[in-house]
Amino acid sequence: MKSRVVIVLILLLAGGVWASQVPPGVVFDAKCRSCKFVNTHEKNGPKELCEKCRYSLAIYPQDKGSNSMDTGGFPAEIQENYKVFARSCSKCHPLARPIGHIPLKTIEEWKKYVIIMVRKPGSGVTLDSGLKVLKLIEYVKSKQR
Ligand code: HEC
Repeated sequence: MKSRVVIVLILLLAGGVWASQVPPGVVFDAKCRSCKFVNTHEKNGPKELCEKCRYSLAIYPQDKGSNSMDTGGFPAEIQENYKVFARSCSKCHPLARPIGHIPLKTIEEWKKYVIIMVRKPGSGVTLDSGLKVLKLIEYVKSKQR
């Protein structure tokens, strides 16, 4: 009887820690969506990249959205920034992930986020590219409002 209470407590605690790290609706799969490699369980977490091809193992609800934006009406400079965005931000997850997050995050949050993405090991995203991505996001947000 006592051990059951302990087990329930442990489960609740683990659930709390888990919930505080994982954004709503995010699940993850040991099997990589990009290269189909099955990662070992210990390495499998929402922040983990596939050990073989470095693709994000987390699956966001936003990942199922559109993987491109209609840039027709964008000024020339922003169109160039979009190209940097499409190249840099689709390496480890669908481009739909950042596209779907544009309206959900404030510019302050985006500044922090782009830095996090730039600093991820092997991101291949330079600070200069990061600033171009931010300019694009700022522009798109200003049009969405
Ligand atoms: C090195 C691989 C990598 C690259 C390159 C990358 N991301 Fe990510 N991204 C991830 C991973 C892994 C996650 C899952 C959450 C985490 O680890 O922070 C993620 C999550 C996100 C999220 C979800 C944030 C949240 O609130 O949960 C956004 C938005 C995002 N990335 C935007 C971008 C943008 C914009 C770029 C281009 C500048 C980019 N990513 C480039 C790996 C990458």
